[in-house]
Amino acid sequence: MNQHTKYWQINNIEHDNPAIKEAGQVLRQGGLVAFPTETVYGLGANALNGPAVEGIFKAKGRPADNPLIVHIATTTAVAQVANVNNPQAEKLMQAFWPGPLTLVLPKTNVLPDEVTAGLDTVGVRMPNHPVALALIEAAGVPIAAPSANLSGSPSPTTAQHVLDDLTGRIAGVLDGGPANLGVESTVLDVTTQVPTILRPGGVTAEQIKAVCGAVCYDPALDQQPNQNITPRSPGVKYKHYSPQAPTVLLEGRQDLILQRLLELFKQYRAQGKQVGILTGAENADKFPGATVLSYGKGRDPAAAAAALYASLRQFDQLGVDVILAEGIPDTGLGRAVMDRLRRAAGGNIQHL
Ligand code: TXA
Ligand code: MG
Repeated sequence: MNQHTKYWQINNIEHDNPAIKEAGQVLRQGGLVAFPTETVYGLGANALNGPAVEGIFKAKGRPADNPLIVHIATTTAVAQVANVNNPQAEKLMQAFWPGPLTLVLPKTNVLPDEVTAGLDTVGVRMPNHPVALALIEAAGVPIAAPSANLSGSPSPTTAQHVLDDLTGRIAGVLDGGPANLGVESTVLDVTTQVPTILRPGGVTAEQIKAVCGAVCYDPALDQQPNQNITPRSPGVKYKHYSPQAPTVLLEGRQDLILQRLLELFKQYRAQGKQVGILTGAENADKFPGATVLSYGKGRDPAAAAAALYASLRQFDQLGVDVILAEGIPDTGLGRAVMDRLRRAAGGNIQHL
């Protein structure tokens, strides 16, 4: 695992097309290339090539039972990898592709078992990013891609994050600037009567409901620690999105959260600890001596999503001993942000 990792800066798709072509060829020939999408950076491999896909699991240290999402560049390409005989799915593709929605559909036989971890379904999505779409076209094959981080660490939203985790382990990375959404796609199972959200993400439950009439969440998402429901999206069961420092998440009333943040901050400072605080811009100057990263004003979920993973990574780089994170309301895109924060906190949550 010590290959040279190539870096391609893409400023202008037309002008930089030779780089995209070269990266596409690397993919077609079985290499691993990381690329920007609108959600987070992905680590791509030719989805039709079992050994290439296996390389993704090795490079990330990913558990073998966690299936990958297949990325395509045109709606017609979906038929190669999945059986889409499903009016619900067609409506959703029309409404949300290209975009942050992964549809779980029955798979076709061209996909090697490595992609789907032996399941008879496959997650498919068309990313809404010009570099991702151009790369998939250049490769000429569907691209299997998880987030381009080491398994367990926060997902990458910049090419630098990818290099921090995967230099020497992959053939290259295309730098198309920061991913602007900042949380992953919504994984939606459309093989069930009522579409089921297996992982909350960039397309909200409210948006899906407006198209399908009904939507539900996999009950495993909201289970208490003493319950034992197996999530239908295997990736959801792993400790995920986690910074190195222990993270405490505060949820509930904003005024009470601020009060508790101040109390906990003082306690940890008294123990000589370096404290990282993730909070709204309004509170940025209330914690002298702490490392405060803000996710924008007014608890705006889009701003929080965009800042989330970069902030968790920054706290690690600065070496804080503990992270205190302020929760935001659990609706719309806030649902995905809170899902990731709860996992980052690993159950260390205070309800106020
Ligand atoms: O936004 C995204 O979805 C990003 C970008 C790169 O497209 N990709 C991403 O992939 O987040 P990954 O591998 O980090 O997460 C994929 C999730 C996992 O929780 C996995 O278990 C689930 O999707 N998944 C994939 N195929 C599935 C299937 N057939 N059935 C159920 N869950 C599936
Ligand atoms: Mg991931």
